[in-house]
Amino acid sequence: MIEASETSSHPIGVYDSGVGGLTVLSAIRELLPHENLIYVADSGHLPYGQKSQDFVTERALAVTEYFISKNAKAIAIPCNTATAAAIKELRSRYPHIPFIGIEPAIKPAARMTKSGVIGVLATTGTLVSRTFNELVRREAPNTQVLLKPCPGWVDLVESGKIAGTEVEQLVAEPLKELIDKQADVLVLGCTHFPFLLESIRNFVGLDFPVLETGKPFARQLHFQLDKNHILNQSGEKGSLELKTSGEPDRLRQLTSSLLHMNVAVERLPQAYC
Ligand code: DGL
Repeated sequence: MIEASETSSHPIGVYDSGVGGLTVLSAIRELLPHENLIYVADSGHLPYGQKSQDFVTERALAVTEYFISKNAKAIAIPCNTATAAAIKELRSRYPHIPFIGIEPAIKPAARMTKSGVIGVLATTGTLVSRTFNELVRREAPNTQVLLKPCPGWVDLVESGKIAGTEVEQLVAEPLKELIDKQADVLVLGCTHFPFLLESIRNFVGLDFPVLETGKPFARQLHFQLDKNHILNQSGEKGSLELKTSGEPDRLRQLTSSLLHMNVAVERLPQAYC
């Protein structure tokens, strides 16, 4: 395990295929304001949800190598697709680094449902993965779990469209299908989807349970840092760097329009793209 005294001020690497993980980054910054964070949007290879598990794992390895070159003390992966494809491989290749992955909120959804039917909206990559299917078997053996891949939703968010008539129509279609089949809890199993929450709420209403995992993920990260004695105790405000394997200007515009965050964005060094 990593030595606390040396490394607690080192950055945490946080990564997703694109802007999705920024929904979780906000929760991380709120809970862990003293941590130095480097966020990588692997936008040059987006969307992960339509790619093979091998490809997504290769990208996870490349981004991990980048974080290691920056002396990251821990690596957080707020990307359901990358976690499902690569986390086992990452943990076995780099046993000295704590990796924190994300998974759809199947367990709480199975506890909440009254109809016995839950709907999961995620990428194709997540829904077909072994990791996800093991999760469902383990946490929801007596629940009917309806799966709904929504690749179009990732495209919407990445194009900066999160509201308006076109978005509402595209969002309504899969939701209607799940609700018509008696789903009474919905799980957002892709970190891009919370950006569409307003349109989702406009269709399902304010009281319908729609679960996402940003805050639980941040709590899990906190727990892992604490357990490994690498929480940053400095008391100073943590720094944030944004990198992308895609177009830096594009990511800067998106973070500003989606999150009202004005942070400089740099291109990820070519060796890791
Ligand atoms: N945001 C990602 C997830 O949570 C992946 C989206 C994509 O690149 O397809 O699964």
